[in-house]
Parts: sequence; C-alpha cells; structure tokens
Amino acid sequence: SAAEKGGYDYFMLKEIAEQPKAVADTLLGRIDPSGSLTLDEVRIAPSELREVDKVVIVACGTAFHAGLIAKYAIEHWTRIPCEVELASEFRYRDPILDGRSLVIAISQSGETMDTLMALRHAREQGSKVLAICNTNGSTIPRESDAVLYTHAGPEVAVASTKAFLTQLVACYLVALYLGQVRGTKWGDEIQAVIKDLSRISEDVERVLETMEPVRALARTLASKNTVLFLGRHVGYPVALEGALKLKELAYMHAEGFAAGELKHGPIALIEEDVPVVVVVPSPRARSVLHDKIVSNIQEIRARGARTIVIAEEGDEAVVPYADHLIRVPATPTLLQPLVATVPLQVFACELATARGNEVDQPRNLAKSVTVE
Ligand code: G6P
Repeated sequence: SAAEKGGYDYFMLKEIAEQPKAVADTLLGRIDPSGSLTLDEVRIAPSELREVDKVVIVACGTAFHAGLIAKYAIEHWTRIPCEVELASEFRYRDPILDGRSLVIAISQSGETMDTLMALRHAREQGSKVLAICNTNGSTIPRESDAVLYTHAGPEVAVASTKAFLTQLVACYLVALYLGQVRGTKWGDEIQAVIKDLSRISEDVERVLETMEPVRALARTLASKNTVLFLGRHVGYPVALEGALKLKELAYMHAEGFAAGELKHGPIALIEEDVPVVVVVPSPRARSVLHDKIVSNIQEIRARGARTIVIAEEGDEAVVPYADHLIRVPATPTLLQPLVATVPLQVFACELATARGNEVDQPRNLAKSVTVE
C-alpha cells in the first residue's frame, strides 16, 4: 500500500532515501566515546582473531560486490590476505581452508542457498564463520559462529540498496576491528577512519539531496541499448554494482569494467554516443589512479562516448571531459563506495521507471534465492 511505501511510489525509492539512517543505525553502539570499536557481539575472541591468517568472503549478487570492496579495506588495514568468491563457485571448487581461516558470509536475507552451502562447507573444514546479515534469526547467522547484523531494517524491493550500504559499513567495521585487535602500523589511520565513518551518513544524505539531475539524465537515456561502467580500486566493484542495478531494473545490457582493463578489450565497445559511467577516485589520496582514470575518460570521449563522471567535489581535472558530472562529497578513499553507489541506484531506478518496468518486482528475479 501507499502507506507502507511511506509516500514514495516504490519501495526502492523509500529504501534509497532511508540509507543515511540505515548507515547510522548500523554504526550505532559500535563506536565507543573514545573512538574505538566495540564489537563484543562478534563472539570470536580477540585471541582467535589474532590467529587468523586468511579471510575468505563468500556472497551472491549485490552482497558479493560488498565483499569485493571489503577486500581492499581488510588487506589494507589488517595485512591479512583476503579472497572474495561467489558462493556458488566457492562450494564446488576445493577451497583451501583450515582453523585459522576466517570466512565471512554476507547476505541480506540470510537465506540464500548458495551462501548457506558455502558456509557449511567452510565450517566442515574447521574454519570460523562470521555472518554479515540483515535478517535477525535467519538461517545463515544461525549456522555461523558469529554474526554482525546490519541494521538497514526490512528491505522489500528486490534490487538491494540500503542493505548494500550497510553491508559495506559492516565490512569496514570488521576490517577496522581486525586492525584494532591485531595492531598494525595503520593505527592512526584506523582511528581517523572510524571518525570519518561516524559522520558518513551526512555525506550520504547530501548525495541524496542532489539527485534531480541524475534522474533527468536517466530519462534521456531510456532508449539506449547499452551502458558501460568503469572504475578502479574500490570504484571497480562500484562499477559492477552500477551495472548489476541496471540489468536488474532497466533490463539493459550493462557491464562494469576495471578501468585499467579498458585497453585489453572494452575500448572496442566504445562507439558514438555510448553512455559510459566512470567512477573517479579521489585526486588527493590516490593521485596516480586519479590521473590514470582521467586519461581513460579522455580516451573514451575521443572515441565518441557520452561520459557520465562521478567525481569528488573539488576535483576540477575531470571537468573538461565530463559530458555529465555527478558530484559526491570527499571521503577517505576506501569509504568512497558509500557515496558513489547512491547515484547509480537512483540512475537505475529512474531508467526502469522511464522504460515502464516494474521497479520493486523486476521480471524473473526473486528477493531471496533459496534454491540452488
Ligand atoms: C538475489 C537478490 C539480490 C541479492 C542476492 C543475494 O539475487 O535479488 O538483490 O543481492 O539475491 O541475496 P542475499 O539475501 O544473500 O544478500
């Protein structure tokens, strides 16, 4: 009913709008006044976490993209090797796991069969399993050694939005906590990032306030066949997520690429007026990557692409090459997906509406895939 949708036309719009609160709620009570993390609820003893020599993340769909981003954070802040794998691939491979492996299963519903099978397989090998989940008491957390709940509230729309942002927050919390417990040379950075994270929901709010031009742009692209997405570093999984949203909702051919791979194939797809969304890393912290992406934008534009550039406020280098510029607030590099994903959700939702598609119930898809 309209009341359930809180006055929005679709649950997806409501859930996109709820993201600042979902992010704040997921942080609530987990940062103590001194600025350290308290994750006692994760019932794996710090002594055991210090023994972990490998992290393996398993998930499906959008949750898998959260895992891909988590890898950058975990390896950077903890120096523990981290693999990320689609749950459906992981369970039929012969993954190398033992008692010192920490397996993280990410799932909004907590009922995805492939993810459940993957965690059962991991536990059989003696690994500890930590679930990141949005649904209290669901099967995946019940079968895990520990759980860190995301507090997004119920997500009704099939395409995941607020659950994804809170999965990212939970992944950052786990990464920072592991770093805190184990003590790394990044101690000061970890402290600073915890502070930034505690303010990030305001940045998400600011992004939401500036989405009208993104909606207008989406409407102009309703008759296109293809949209490409490019990103680098944590912007690469953001590109994958942007493409997935467009497939799910707009039924368009959409693909995400690592920007560095452009010259190894994808550039052949560039032709006159193809929309290409580019997620640009911060020019401050990662200036090399930033410069490389700016040349990518120049290259594709020279070949006729219509460039849609998502860049940090104050990044002037991209301006001459952006046919459409979408600004996001400056954040620490690793946190950028929390703001950069939001315009892509809005973009896909508006394109779906413009194409006359059912936003909350896309064809052929289910909210929770409980079969193999
Ligand atoms: C389905 C949904 C996706 C979701 C995926 C994983 O495909 O349509 O939105 O990302 O399952 O679901 P989970 O509940 O495990 O996060």
